[in-house]
This record gives sequence, structure tokens and C-alpha cells, in this order.
Amino acid sequence: MSSNSRGAWGSRFGFVLAAAGSAVGLGHIWRFPYVTGENGGAAFVILYIACVFLIGVPILFAELSLGRHSHKNPVGAIKAIAPTGGWKYLGYLGVATGLFILSYYTLIAGWTFGYIFKTLLQNPLTFDEFSTNAPLNSLLYVVFLLMSIGVVYGGIRGGIERWSKILMPILPVILLFIIIYTLTLEGAMEGVRFYLRPDFSEITGETIMIALGQAFFANSLGMGAMITYGSYLDKKENIIAAGTTVVIFGIMISFLAGFAIFPAVFAMGKSPAEGAALVFVILPEIFEMMPGGILIGTLFFLLLAIAALTSAISLLEVPVAFLIDERKVRRKVATWLVGGVTLLFGIPSALSFGASDFFTHLPFWAGHSFFDLMDYIFGSVALPLGGMMFSIFVAWRWGMFGASKEVSLGNDKFIGIQSKVWGIILKYICPIVILLVLLNSIEVF
Ligand code: PHE
Repeated sequence: MSSNSRGAWGSRFGFVLAAAGSAVGLGHIWRFPYVTGENGGAAFVILYIACVFLIGVPILFAELSLGRHSHKNPVGAIKAIAPTGGWKYLGYLGVATGLFILSYYTLIAGWTFGYIFKTLLQNPLTFDEFSTNAPLNSLLYVVFLLMSIGVVYGGIRGGIERWSKILMPILPVILLFIIIYTLTLEGAMEGVRFYLRPDFSEITGETIMIALGQAFFANSLGMGAMITYGSYLDKKENIIAAGTTVVIFGIMISFLAGFAIFPAVFAMGKSPAEGAALVFVILPEIFEMMPGGILIGTLFFLLLAIAALTSAISLLEVPVAFLIDERKVRRKVATWLVGGVTLLFGIPSALSFGASDFFTHLPFWAGHSFFDLMDYIFGSVALPLGGMMFSIFVAWRWGMFGASKEVSLGNDKFIGIQSKVWGIILKYICPIVILLVLLNSIEVF
């Protein structure tokens, strides 16, 4: 157990669960199915898994080792290695990205919270009626934000770790219940085919960009959440084992989530390309038909809200740790401060689903919503961009010698071939692939 006074994880298991808690959230259960549905199904799934292992995992190890090396937030971690020069702005980018993602993430999380009660009380409100109701959305937003603030307020061991430990393992079980039921529905097999039989002609440059963005978003990479979580990690811990466990748990949850959604989509004759509303439109209908659906549905949205909470707190923790370490602000003050700014930027997102015509159809962004704009800039572009810069920073500025040494502290097999392969990927493959994908998405080619 680390003895530094910033706080530390209570145990190895606690860290893995907390990191899995950060990773596994709306990104897997809400975002993964709808982007898969919009991008052709099985081929996208394969592309996503390739992005996770080729790009995501090496960057995850880089972020964790950078955090543990310095015991600092992203800005402090960078300054510990490069005290002067412009690299610290990469840390600021991470802090800002965390804050902006949190601002719209909280909205969707608030929906899941609302859907707990909607399912339990069998309220007939449709998704459209629900998402255009500004007072209801604001209320749910504030309630969810206050819950996140409450946990982060509690600090490392008392707050984040305890919650993750109790709640994360229940999630796959509840997904299995839903899958077993949906597979019995007539027409479900067509959904299984859509989800598992790849059609590579559907893949475009844009699809690759979205798969890469999803790999970052789902694994909490590219903005320093894993640097911050790594900073509370003890030197004895095995970064490779812990990181791999987190990624595999995440892929499993995503995979199950898709299995819970697509057979149902096809059985009900709906389109898989429904967009951000997919989970909120499809699953409630399933719960209505399913025996014991009220209970299963209530439990599902409860767990999804909790999964979202353990992710939201990691988004919140990045700017908070920055203020504590770099600006010497007290944890409680820092948490309220960041929460307040988040709320400010969250309002336009909350009005993006029909409540305000302006924010629903931004005139300066081809009529897309403010919410879509935020998710595009921060979820799809800023994360891969940050990840690319982190890989360059670790491989070229810190150097593979220092980085590998940090990893090997908790894993004495991490020398020779393992660390060489890691070095090649971080030095060349990550920066080049990400750069190409980013340039391609802004249509440079
Ligand atoms: N990984 C989280 C999810 O899937 C979201 C997240 C992104 C959290 C980036 C932290 C950093 O819901």
C-alpha cells in the first residue's frame, strides 16, 4: 500500500475494479451498441476489437505507468518528466477533455437514472416525450452530478473503490438474463447474424475513425483518467496484468450488451441505426414483454446508472486531482468547483434533444445538435489526439527505458521481447495509425 498522503488503492483487487469501473460504463452499454448499429454490425465489432488491442492496450499501459511513476494527475505527471516546455499543455488538454465529456456524459447517465423509476413505476412516457422534457432532464442531471460529487468527495478508498467493489460484478449477470430472454424471441437470429457475421464492404475511413474513438472512449483513454488512477497504484502492482484484466472485462461487457440489444432490435422489426436513443428505445419494450421484466428492467437501469457513476467519477477525478496537486485546492472545494463548471456546460447538452430548437439543430454545424458536437469534438477527436500525444510523450520524451523500468517494478518478466514490442508499438504504430485516422476523418486525403 502506498503511503503517500494523496490517497491510494486499498488492494490490487480494489484497483482493478475501480479501473474497470472507470472503463465500463455508458461507453460499453449505451455507446457501443448504437455506434455498432450505425456502422454495419459485425465488421465494426472486429475493427473495434483490433483498435482496442493494437492501440488501446499499449496506451493504457503507458498511461498507467506514467501515473504510477509520478503519483500525479496528468499535468503533474508530465511536469515530473518534462518540467519545462510545452508538454504540460497535453495535460491541460486531458483535464479539459475530462470536464467536457463529463458535461454531456452526465446527461445520459441522468436518463438511465430516470429510467430506473420509469421502469419500476411502469410510466408510459415515450423516449421522445422523456428526452424533450427540460425540467425533468435538468433535475435528473443535477441529481446524478450530485451523486458523482458525493463519491469523489469521499476520496479514493472510501468513495471510489468501495462502490466499484460492491457493484461492478453484478452487471454481467443481469445482461445474461436479458440475452437469454431476447434469444427466445422470433426473428432474434437475424440480429445475431447482423452482430456476428461481418460484411467488410461496410467499412469506410469514417468507420475506422469511429471504431478508434470508441476504443479510447470505452477504455477511458486519451485524457489521463488512467494516469490519475495509476497514480494511486502501488509500485508492487503488475500494470500489465491489471490493465489487461480491465480491457478484457470491458470487451466482455460490450459484447454482452450488443447481444442483449441486436436480437431484440431485429425481433421487433426496428432499425439498428437508431442512434443515441437505441438502448432507451429498445430495451424498455423488451422489459415490457419479458416475464419478470419490471424487476429485470429496473435492475438493469439501476446497474447501468451505477456503471455510469463509476465512470463519471473518473472523469471528475481528473480535473479534481489536477486542482489538488497543482493548485493546492482542498479536495472538497475542488470537487464543487469542477461540478459547477460541468453543470454550466451541461445545460446546452440537456437542451439538445428537442427542448431548445437552437441547441437541437445548431445552425453553424450542419444542423447537428450541441450534444453531438460535444461528443464529436471530445469523444471522437480529442481522445485519440490525446492518446497519440501520450504515446509520443512516453515513447520519445520519457523514453522506453524509463517506462519499461516502471512497468517491470511489478512484473519482472517485462524485459526483453515484451518491452521491445511495446516500445515499437508506442513509438511508431500508435502515433502513425492515429494520425492517419485523424487526418482521414477531416478529409485531408
Ligand atoms: N469509459 C467510460 C465509459 O465507457 C467513459 C470515460 C471516457 C471515462 C473517458 C473516463 C474517461 O462509459
